[in-house]
Amino acid sequence: MCVRQNQRDKEITTSDSILVTYATRYGSTQAVAEAVAATLRESGLEVDLQPMRKVRTLEGYRAVVLGAPLYMGRWHKDAQRFLSLHQKTLTQQPVAIFTLGPTQPDEKEWEGVHAQLDQELAKYPWLTPVALELFGGKYDPAKLRFPDKLLATLPASPLHQVPASDVRDWTAIRAWASNLAAKL
Ligand SMILES: Cc1cc2nc3c(=O)[nH]c(=O)nc-3n(C[C@H](O)[C@H](O)[C@H](O)COP(=O)(O)O)c2cc1C
Repeated sequence: MCVRQNQRDKEITTSDSILVTYATRYGSTQAVAEAVAATLRESGLEVDLQPMRKVRTLEGYRAVVLGAPLYMGRWHKDAQRFLSLHQKTLTQQPVAIFTLGPTQPDEKEWEGVHAQLDQELAKYPWLTPVALELFGGKYDPAKLRFPDKLLATLPASPLHQVPASDVRDWTAIRAWASNLAAKL
């Protein structure tokens, strides 16, 4: 009886939690996911923070917040895989999405990245996020690894001679997460 009660308590606690999950190559999306998770926790929500690669099941979560950067106009491949793997569950619970992309505070760049994001979303017509946001990202040519490093050296590459930058707006990130609490 006591064990059953404990199990039931555990189930109630677990199914009440929110998964904040992220894909990242250089860590900037992970840092944003950590800030989103911290803000949701401050709002009194129970949050589990996990890299997408490590998530085996969505069982036990009542909502998912998914964060992924854009690479060459596409969501990070971990996010593409995650969406395919968990399609069914993601249609049955609230999903919020944040994307990192633009690395300069340039209006034209942001317009182009919004178009990239629209194209990515169009590939998942079943996905109807309760919230969707594009945040500026972080770019450091000195930290690039192969093949990105090679790509950045090519004169025809959009990364050629792009300076290091960090345009993550932490105030906007926390405000978005704070508003999100009510939607999940
Ligand atoms: C090789 C490479 C390709 C990128 N392609 C895009 C892109 O197509 N669109 C975009 O908005 N940002 C692009 N970015 C910027 C990243 O999305 C941004 O740096 C982001 O903060 C990286 O996230 P991460 O540190 O979590 O991997 C690119 C960055 C690199 C290094």
